[in-house]
Amino acid sequence: MIRLSQQIPLGTGRHRKCYAHPDDAQRCIKVVYHNGDGGDKETRRELKYYAHLSRHLKDWSGIPRYYGTVETDCGTGYVYDVIADFDGKPSVTLTEFAAQCRYEEDTVVLRQLLKKLKRYLRDNRIVTMTLKPQNILCHRISESEVIPVICDNIGESTLIPLATWSKWFCERKQERLWERFIAQPALAVALKKDAPSKDRSTLALSSREA
Ligand SMILES: Nc1ncnc2c1ncn2[C@@H]1O[C@H](COP(=O)(O)OP(=O)(O)O)[C@@H](O)[C@H]1O
Ligand SMILES: [Mg+2]
Repeated sequence: MIRLSQQIPLGTGRHRKCYAHPDDAQRCIKVVYHNGDGGDKETRRELKYYAHLSRHLKDWSGIPRYYGTVETDCGTGYVYDVIADFDGKPSVTLTEFAAQCRYEEDTVVLRQLLKKLKRYLRDNRIVTMTLKPQNILCHRISESEVIPVICDNIGESTLIPLATWSKWFCERKQERLWERFIAQPALAVALKKDAPSKDRSTLALSSREA
């Protein structure tokens, strides 16, 4: 039995808490803490999609691998790759990353990260229920390189998983979700800071310093 209840989680979502694996620095354990609130159903959907990915996905750089279950003092634990930066610090979520964007240069990095995420989703035909900044981890693999990793909400819930099996449906769905994703306040606010250079005035400078 693995003890997690005394640990501070790496992150907490609506249904699950994610803990560092006490016996393996490369892994984390997720447990459902809101039983009966759809958490188990979501986990089942996700694992079904992981079974699909394990047969089809070639590039795992944008999704933590899944390693099966363990017994914990918080109930069944689901083991994944832990996403941590090159310097050992936990990778921040895209919500935190966007909140840290203060200057135009930061926004350029944010845009590049979003571009990488979009390309990864398209090239690997990753199907997600929704795309939310708190479910994307910004994996800093070196001083200068950040890779987006999708840690939640993958797969689809429909009886006939059209987007999983059809490239056309997948791309349509990805386009729809992407529009909603970048319109979310956490990203929209950060992306607006990218003023065109002709507008880079004293006003812009003073508002930066405010
Ligand atoms: N593989 C991971 N490595 C590191 N942190 C993670 C990982 N997966 C999730 N987290 C953190 O835990 C939080 C909750 O996990 P998540 O799977 O999103 O739970 P929920 O399904 O309840 O939203 C995430 O927002 C993220 O901060
Ligand atoms: Mg989540």
